[in-house]
Parts: sequence; C-alpha cells; structure tokens
Amino acid sequence: MKKLLTGIQPSGEITLGNLIGSIKQMVKYQDEYDSYIFVANMHAITVNQDPQTLKERAKNLVALYLACGIDPHKNTIFLQSDNPYHANLSWVLECNTYFGEAGRMTQFKDKSQKHKNFSVGLFTYPMLMAADILLYDADYIPVGIDQKQHVELTRDIALRFNKKYGPTFTIPEPIIPQNGAKITDLQEPTKKMSKSSENLKGTILVLDDIATTRKKIMSAVTDSDNLVKYDPENKPGISNLLNIYSVLTSMDIQKVEEKFKDANYGELKKNVADVVCNTLESIQTKYQEILQSNLVDEVLDQGQEKTIAIAKQKVSEVFTKVGLSR
Ligand code: TYM
Repeated sequence: MKKLLTGIQPSGEITLGNLIGSIKQMVKYQDEYDSYIFVANMHAITVNQDPQTLKERAKNLVALYLACGIDPHKNTIFLQSDNPYHANLSWVLECNTYFGEAGRMTQFKDKSQKHKNFSVGLFTYPMLMAADILLYDADYIPVGIDQKQHVELTRDIALRFNKKYGPTFTIPEPIIPQNGAKITDLQEPTKKMSKSSENLKGTILVLDDIATTRKKIMSAVTDSDNLVKYDPENKPGISNLLNIYSVLTSMDIQKVEEKFKDANYGELKKNVADVVCNTLESIQTKYQEILQSNLVDEVLDQGQEKTIAIAKQKVSEVFTKVGLSR
C-alpha cells in the first residue's frame, strides 16, 4: 500500500482553507493509502508563540482531525514534537541543501518580510518539512498550492541524497486538489485565506460561531457585474464562493456555475453560507464530544509509539550512510 503523509501547523485557529485544502484530502484518501497525519507544532515555533496556547492548539487540532472524519483506525495520527527523530533528520538534510535553493522559497521571502526579527528556523523550515516526509518514505503529500514548492524542494533533496549516498529515500509527489487548492480571503479575494491574517473578517474559522460565519460570507467582497461565472482571474470573489460550494457539495465547478447562472450575488452567498454553516455545525458538535473524552491522548500515544519505531530505523540508516556512527 502506498504511503501518504500530511500535516497542519497549530499556529492559529484552523480555517476553511485548511479544511478544504488539507483535511478534506486526508479524509478522501484514508481508505486508499497508509496515511500519516500529524500536527506540525515544531514548525509553529518558527514564529513567536505563546507556550500555553500552542500546547492547547496542538491537542485541539487532533480533536478537529477526528471530528472532521479522520479515522484513528485507518490513519497514524501523531504530534511532531513527540518524535525527536524529525529534528535529527532535519539537521542532516540541512547539511545537504544549498543555501541558495532554500533562499528561493517564496514562503520564506514573504514571511521574513513581514517580521522585523525573524528566526533562523523560518529559513530552515522547509528542511524540517522534508524530514517529516522522508522519514516515513511517504509517496504522496496532499497540500494546498502554497506548500507545493516545499514538496518540490523535498524531492530535490531526496534525489541528491540518494545519488550521493545510495538509495535511501522514496521520492514524494505532491497531490494538489483540483478545486480548493487555494481558498481565498473573503475580503481580499486575490489573497490566500490564512490563519495568520490580521483581519479575520475575510477568514472563516472552522470553530467560529455559526452566526459570525454566515455574516462573513454574506459580506464577502465580489464585483459589480452581477454575473455568476467561474473566472478566477477576473472574478476572484465569485470564483472563490463557487469553489467553496463545489468542494463542500462534491459538485463539479461547471455544474455549480450552471446551477447559479441566473442567481443574483445575494442568492449565491446565501446558498454558500448554508452549505458552509451545515458543514461546520456538524464538525463542531463532534469536536465538543471528542474534547470530553480521552481519545486525543490515546490516539497520540499510539501514534508516538509507532512513528518513533519507524523513524529510528530511518535515521539510523541515514547516520550510517553519512558517517555519523561508530
Ligand atoms: P499550513 O499549516 O500553513 O497549512 C496546512 C494545509 O492547509 C493548506 N492551506 C490551504 N489550502 C487551500 N486554501 C487555503 N487558503 C489554504 N491555507 C492553507 C496548506 O497548503 C497545507 O496543505 N508546512 C506546512 C505543514 C507541514 C507539512 C509537512 C505538510 C509541515 N510538514 C509535511 C505536508 C507534509 C504548513 O505550514 O501548512
């Protein structure tokens, strides 16, 4: 069975973008692949975090994975910091990555411009991500479009390492969802919807209260054409709403376009709001139930035990190959 791996940083509240671009993909593939789903909490500390909030968010994200339908019997679910081998492998990969290629990562360029004093960790972040992937010989990495460049760097590092030291790592492939690879901000529809946005008016949080969610969708920025058409370049606001509707109802984008071709923008927004609110309401109910149980800790204990055993072997193989053994 082919292996799949992916994760989310608990660096903020989880958004509809994360749900559509990432969690929905995890659920979709869980019967097809041996899936490793994790919480990238070590990536989160590349920027400043409040320790208590980070700790809570990490466990809450596991509860959210479960509430969204990720089945702990079908997936290995774990916390990145529960497995010290991620940092071990990351160091070796950093020493096999060129400064220039890491410097070309667009996310680093964007984020380093936003923070006055940014950490070295923000720069080495993609090599930790490469370690997450290569430790488990993952074949497929479902991510939104913003993470594609990091998966491509991982491929380059793995190919180079295999060439230099002999076959060691599986070369991973990104899986980018057709629709929903980039859900955009409802107020600035050319920008990615992001958990680190300063203005949350354009960001739908999966755990937001339902009335707030509806309000945010009803006040989404559109255009003045009054023509419902899927055209991301010229009509980013309307296209984003069509995209959200399409993914959450599993209806082709052309069919969605056809369904709403005579609707006005208010009607379209109301329909999108209904679908989003129904989806979130059902997730939120399950989420509260899971938080009342011990499930999160049980799942993480199992995940820790299993992933440490796999990762230990891989790191031992890598250390031996590069000469870090006695
Ligand atoms: P993160 O936490 O920024 O985002 C988690 C996942 O959600 C996707 N995503 C989106 N998809 C569509 N529309 C959006 N507006 C949107 N916003 C976010 C992201 O593409 C991502 O798939 N570095 C990663 C976490 C990570 C990882 C890994 C992922 C660490 N190691 C190994 C895969 C494999 C990150 O920061 O994702």
